[in-house]
Amino acid sequence: MKKDIAGMKDIEMLVNCFYEKVKADTQISHFFTDTVKVNWERHLPVMYRFWDNALFFTGTYSGHPLEVHQQLHALGTLHTTDFQQWNKLFTETVDELFEGEKATLAKERAKSISTVMQLKILKKD
Ligand code: HEM
Repeated sequence: MKKDIAGMKDIEMLVNCFYEKVKADTQISHFFTDTVKVNWERHLPVMYRFWDNALFFTGTYSGHPLEVHQQLHALGTLHTTDFQQWNKLFTETVDELFEGEKATLAKERAKSISTVMQLKILKKD
């Protein structure tokens, strides 16, 4: 049986595995390599803190994801299908590695943030 997400080590594993999938994905990898040239050494720790805060309410993340994705949309149009693919990869990663209350919460949080981003950022596809 898989274990639940229990702390920072698990979050690091989740985030690292997720971005390995993202980088290998033919539909959305270009946002991370072409639209923005992501500095992974900087981005990964930001995402560890984001998820640590989202799941364990540690207050370690301070940022503005909506603005970041608004800029990304301006640079290289995001579509509903891109968000769907992002969520598919994220859900797959969580399910491959973990199960339990925090694992479910992670998938729900990703889904609801994705919905808000789409409502606020996308106009018409
Ligand atoms: C089409 C879907 C998405 C794409 C292509 C995408 C892509 C990106 C890119 C390129 C960055 C900037 C990295 C950098 O410059 O360092 C970023 C940052 C980020 N993304 Fe996404 N993203 C998507 C959806 C989401 C969703 C649904 C979430 C919700 C969990 C999310 C959470 C974040 C966070 C927290 C950051 C860091 C913001 C900061 O710098 O504080 N993204 N994303």
